[in-house]
Amino acid sequence: MLELLQDTSFEVVCMASQQSVGRPLEIGKHQYRIEPFSVEACADCDVVFLCVSGEFSLEYGPALAQASVVIDNSSAFRYHIDVPLLVPPINGGTYRGEKLIANPNCSSAIALMVLGPLHQAFGLESAIISTYQAASGAGQPAMVELRKRVQGFDEYGQDNSSEYFSHNLAFNVIPQVDRFEDNLYTREEMKVVWELRKVLDEPALAISVTAVRVPTLRSHAESLTLKFSRPIRSLAAIREMLGRAPGVEVVDAPGKQRYPMPMTSTYKHAVEVGRIRHNLIYGEYGLDIFISGDQLLRGAALNAFEIMQVALQ
Ligand SMILES: NC(=O)c1ccc[n+]([C@@H]2O[C@H](COP(=O)([O-])OP(=O)(O)OC[C@H]3O[C@@H](n4cnc5c(N)ncnc54)[C@H](OP(=O)(O)O)[C@@H]3O)[C@@H](O)[C@H]2O)c1
Repeated sequence: MLELLQDTSFEVVCMASQQSVGRPLEIGKHQYRIEPFSVEACADCDVVFLCVSGEFSLEYGPALAQASVVIDNSSAFRYHIDVPLLVPPINGGTYRGEKLIANPNCSSAIALMVLGPLHQAFGLESAIISTYQAASGAGQPAMVELRKRVQGFDEYGQDNSSEYFSHNLAFNVIPQVDRFEDNLYTREEMKVVWELRKVLDEPALAISVTAVRVPTLRSHAESLTLKFSRPIRSLAAIREMLGRAPGVEVVDAPGKQRYPMPMTSTYKHAVEVGRIRHNLIYGEYGLDIFISGDQLLRGAALNAFEIMQVALQ
């Protein structure tokens, strides 16, 4: 977030909890010192980015929005009917001047960059999605834990504990992100369902998701099986169309072993899309694709930054 803001004319104030007050932060040629959070201090700001828990956003978001545009990264307000949920290249045009705006879940935001243009062109009927989510999705301390556990790894079964995941993530994959809901899907999986429907403005769209935590540090990858109402005659035309879509980079040369990966999508503004092929079940009405996007950047900070640009227009 700070990297994106450093080239703007805004004066930036960083606030965090009491334990961080006074801590220096150096981003490029800019030096910041963390200040204590207060509603009064935020009231002097044109825009407030909330990068905190949902409980914190629920408590302070509405009060902050009395004075400033508030862009909330948590899930607290995403499903409120009167709070816009924006992915600017996809539904930025629906913004009507609201002061409190929700930034989608990172897996949703990344998928939507590709689903938006595909839906517009071919009419999305259903999506079956599996995610491969990086450790940083659980916050900065979770990345630190994964690094330590990888360095200290000896043998499977010796240390299954974790402070930030449901199990030790080192050399493991965990089919649980967030808590389980009554329908046996996790909250993370249902967030993607609800948010894709809201952003695409298709309340009844058929979507099913399996969200999996994998031991990468940054960038969420996703496998998408898509069914459309109109046939797709040419994969070359799909590659060309996605290549022109904002925030999307086609990386699809399987013969050269080029496809989307966290290793290449990390720090990129664009979501990588590749492995583009007709689905074996749905034929010309279906696509299987693989995407990878930096969820801290494209899936969170950059989307929040683009929301700010829409809100301040
Ligand atoms: N990580 C992702 O990929 C991602 C993507 C999209 C959205 N999100 C959402 O974004 C939000 C933040 O996630 P994160 O991963 O950035 O978490 P994080 O790394 O744990 O950071 C949380 C921040 O909140 C601050 N904070 C906590 N209590 C506070 C208080 N009482 N007053 C002021 N500041 C306080 C913390 O300050 P201290 O450092 O001083 O404790 C810290 O800077 C969450 O709602 C998350 O779901 C995360």
